[in-house]
Amino acid sequence: MCGITACIGTDESVDSLLDGLRRLEYRGYDSAGIAVKNQAGISLTKRVGEVSELVGAVERDPIDGTFGIGHTRWATHGGVTDNNAHPHTDESGRIAVVHNGIITNYQSLRSELESNGHKFESETDTEVVPHLIEENLRDGATPEEAFRAAVGRLNGTYALASIIGDEEAIFATRSGSPLVLGVGEGEYFLASDVPAFIQHTDQVVYLHDGDFIIARPSGYEVTDSGGRPVDRPLKYIEWDPETATKGGYEHFMYKEINEQPGSLRRTIHGRLNALSGGVELEEFPPGTFSDVEQVHIVGMGTSHHAGMFAASLLSERGIPAYAFMSGEYAVIKPPVTENTLVIAVTQSGETADTLDAIRRARAAGARTLALTNVVGSSITRECDDELLIRAGPEIGVAATKTFSSQVTALMLLTERFVEDITGNKSGVARDVMDSLARLPGDVQEVLDTSNAREIAEEYQDSDSYFFIGRGLAHPVALEGALKFKEISYEHAEGFAASELKHGPLALVTPMTPVFAIFTGFEDEATLSNMKEVQARGAPVVAITSDPDGEIAEFADHVLTIPETHPDVAGITANIQLQLVAYHAAKLLDRPIDKPRNLAKCVTVE
Ligand code: AGP
Repeated sequence: MCGITACIGTDESVDSLLDGLRRLEYRGYDSAGIAVKNQAGISLTKRVGEVSELVGAVERDPIDGTFGIGHTRWATHGGVTDNNAHPHTDESGRIAVVHNGIITNYQSLRSELESNGHKFESETDTEVVPHLIEENLRDGATPEEAFRAAVGRLNGTYALASIIGDEEAIFATRSGSPLVLGVGEGEYFLASDVPAFIQHTDQVVYLHDGDFIIARPSGYEVTDSGGRPVDRPLKYIEWDPETATKGGYEHFMYKEINEQPGSLRRTIHGRLNALSGGVELEEFPPGTFSDVEQVHIVGMGTSHHAGMFAASLLSERGIPAYAFMSGEYAVIKPPVTENTLVIAVTQSGETADTLDAIRRARAAGARTLALTNVVGSSITRECDDELLIRAGPEIGVAATKTFSSQVTALMLLTERFVEDITGNKSGVARDVMDSLARLPGDVQEVLDTSNAREIAEEYQDSDSYFFIGRGLAHPVALEGALKFKEISYEHAEGFAASELKHGPLALVTPMTPVFAIFTGFEDEATLSNMKEVQARGAPVVAITSDPDGEIAEFADHVLTIPETHPDVAGITANIQLQLVAYHAAKLLDRPIDKPRNLAKCVTVE
């Protein structure tokens, strides 16, 4: 967690750092700070609260410098205080460091440094780094040597950027936490994620674990821990800088919900032949998976729900498939063989639990595949293969467009699996593929016609919100509840519709609206469940493609989705639930893009 940024060679380093931090705020927003280098030394400002607090502090008491580093924090070690905010310095104030990750051996390093006379100002794990650098400088090391030697003492995960003494350079490295380099005309940027500098440059170098970077106004070098140059290609990012801004919307989440027709088109583009109904995955030609015997899908939160969806779909098509929360995968240790394919579903590609699950799967001999939104992310380096979902940058902490793209990409993969693993090449899912081809238009229809706002208003004073669904609609119910609780802070739970009367029904009252998802799969059984909750006084909002049928007749309210194949209907149903969650949170005036206690990317276990 946390976002780090750095720049050198830019005209307005303070503005550039603050702007970068605003764009990285989805990674953590407890406190923020910047340090810039000027003639007098290092000037530093840090504040508890969102980046806007830091901006206010800098406006009231301006600082200036020719290059610098910045940080937005999601607290792990030490409370949310000005002292614990980054950047951290040594006693002399001549070294400043920002860090994302966790240094696991910081206690022993701190004791050693304290016994050597170092005074600590914070409770963080990070503060050992500037003190270690300072100690190395005192022993006669150059800034580069001092930085490398300090990093050599660290265990754990880190992306680090630092300013050291009078050297006109940013020293940085990564191991287990993301760090990318932006290369402009005579200006260089380092950041946890591309949106921090996309308005300055679209040329990016994806750094690998163990890389060291020294950026100066004259250029940059990437080396390994031994100082040997390593070749990291310059890549071009095909994003419109607008995609990383709110573009007129009040919240990133609402913008991203509305972007789904476009993001889904990108997910499908060139992969689904609308004429033949065939799937053409450039990355995976026919036969790629012919020796796969079972599929495990790991992910957390929304990504786990996409994994559950795909596992049910694969099972339905006769392929043994199981979805696991990545955090549990290492504990459960399900048996794998070299014919097991483990798919890591992760928007960010940096979720610690998911990386851990994949490492264990690989160690046990499984084949691995990353399904992610982020080019060059850690998961793409840890897995044997990758499939990008191409949803574009998602800034809102609540995942929206990436869920629909994950599910869609997994549906395309499913078709490749069916052909390769079962040998069934008869186009069994032609009708599903036709529905997928129509999906962007169907999503647009939902966005244009949804009455989700009225539903949110109608039930805004309820005690709890329940979401139920069967089969493929079960993960959609879980996802609907996750989105609702995450941004509204109201109690919400998702259940398999069949589970309801085995316990949760005890909670049902007139103050617990139930969102029942009908996708055309065993709808009659779900209709019975709907009547069961209504008999206990609960109002039901049915999500259905038949606004004039029996379901709508019995429901208290209806959210309509376009008629489509039952395997695809969950995606449009989910869009209605995203809208309900958004409007409910908006009515409650919640900080929708930055819900309390959460961050977009969970890089700690
Ligand atoms: C979704 O709204 C959440 N914020 C969260 O559950 C998220 O899906 C989870 O942390 C996994 O993230 P990833 O997809 O980046 O791995």
